[in-house]
Amino acid sequence: MKLCDEAAGIAAIKHSRRRVVTAGMDRMTFDEPVHVGELLTFAAAVNAVWRTSMEVGVRVTAEQPQTGRRRHTSTAYLTMVALDEDGRPAQVPPLAVTTADERRREREAQTRRRNRLAEREEILRARADDDG
Ligand SMILES: CC(C)(COP(=O)(O)OP(=O)(O)OC[C@H]1O[C@@H](n2cnc3c(N)ncnc32)[C@H](O)[C@@H]1OP(=O)(O)O)[C@@H](O)C(=O)NCCC(=O)NCCS
Repeated sequence: MKLCDEAAGIAAIKHSRRRVVTAGMDRMTFDEPVHVGELLTFAAAVNAVWRTSMEVGVRVTAEQPQTGRRRHTSTAYLTMVALDEDGRPAQVPPLAVTTADERRREREAQTRRRNRLAEREEILRARADDDG
């Protein structure tokens, strides 16, 4: 998870050309185990950008060095926020979405954000009802 966070941070810095912080890790799957001695590769891409935040997807691949067999073992989605020189959230440049894969990733990132915000709203409403 730490390495996913680092890979996501580098992708977000490269897109925004700013320092970034992790606002949240929305999801991480562990689809298959990683065995001792396997080589891990982290591929990170900015899937979508909003005002100051970006969703970065990280795909983890494990390779058995003796055989070269590669397996997709994990996927993580993180929200990174760009910061200005004073440490305040800073606007990020738009994302160029051109290929079919990029369009799919952008669409799915929008779905995750919508769901995240809807969940937050529902929880806050229920808490307010409890208090009221
Ligand atoms: C992330 C952080 C900068 C947001 O600050 P804030 O005062 O809430 O700022 P804003 O309300 O303007 O939100 C800025 C952006 O962060 C997003 N954001 C804030 N909290 C979030 C969360 N929990 N999950 C996802 N996105 C979040 C907002 O949606 C907003 O995105 P947008 O501008 O693209 O719409 C602040 O919460 C922070 O510094 N958190 C600690 C980060 C940290 O220490 N990370 C671990 C080490 S890197």
